[in-house]
Amino acid sequence: MAVVHVSAHPLVRHKVARLRAADTKPPEFRDLVAAISRVLFLEATADLPLRPVPVRTPLADTTGEEIAARVGLVPVLRAGLGMADAMLQALPEASVWHLGLYRDHATLKPVTYYNKLPAQPDMDVALVLDPMLATGGSAVAAIDILKKAGIARVVFVGLIAAPEGIAALVAAHPDVPLYLAVRDEKLNDIGYILPGLGDAGDRQFGTR
Ligand code: PRP
Ligand code: URA
Repeated sequence: MAVVHVSAHPLVRHKVARLRAADTKPPEFRDLVAAISRVLFLEATADLPLRPVPVRTPLADTTGEEIAARVGLVPVLRAGLGMADAMLQALPEASVWHLGLYRDHATLKPVTYYNKLPAQPDMDVALVLDPMLATGGSAVAAIDILKKAGIARVVFVGLIAAPEGIAALVAAHPDVPLYLAVRDEKLNDIGYILPGLGDAGDRQFGTR
């Protein structure tokens, strides 16, 4: 059964309230996405393996540690881009694989339009990044693509999730842990999360 981790960090709760607010403009919205993503990144990577590394300080030789896993960040376009930027600042060694998926407005089914996965991905863990988990169709499709490419360990990181999306993702990929900022109440009759924040891509990029 998948682990569903909903952040209890006060900073996340504080920032999610501003993220939801209809009067938050794209520049502040992007800053909030980045700030929340940095906390979720720390929570989602707390179990990364370490290996010893020799370090020479100005005073002595000692042993430090370095991350022993190759980490891939997989932002689902467009809305996952702001999350990836924030996480890449925290771990510049990570690779970024862009996946373009949009949700057809009539059917709510995901349509894949771009895939920048390397032919032979040699990553130990891939973090799928998408602020919104609504029906779950996009996240399930993104993880299907990663698993077909041979990625054994996948983690989903999202900001706002509907119970319907969590259930769909857990059913399709029970091995994939979820790291979320908040679990919302439900979907409305056109597949938007309530109370949600509206359209995450439009609000980040001012396209509305
Ligand atoms: C949004 C969001 C997810 C998807 C979630 O993307 O960023 O990718 O919808 O919905 P689902 O769980 O029902 O699949 P959208 O299709 O609006 O594309 P965009 O990021 O380019 O705006
Ligand atoms: N995609 C969004 O951006 N918002 C929703 O509420 C649902 C899907």
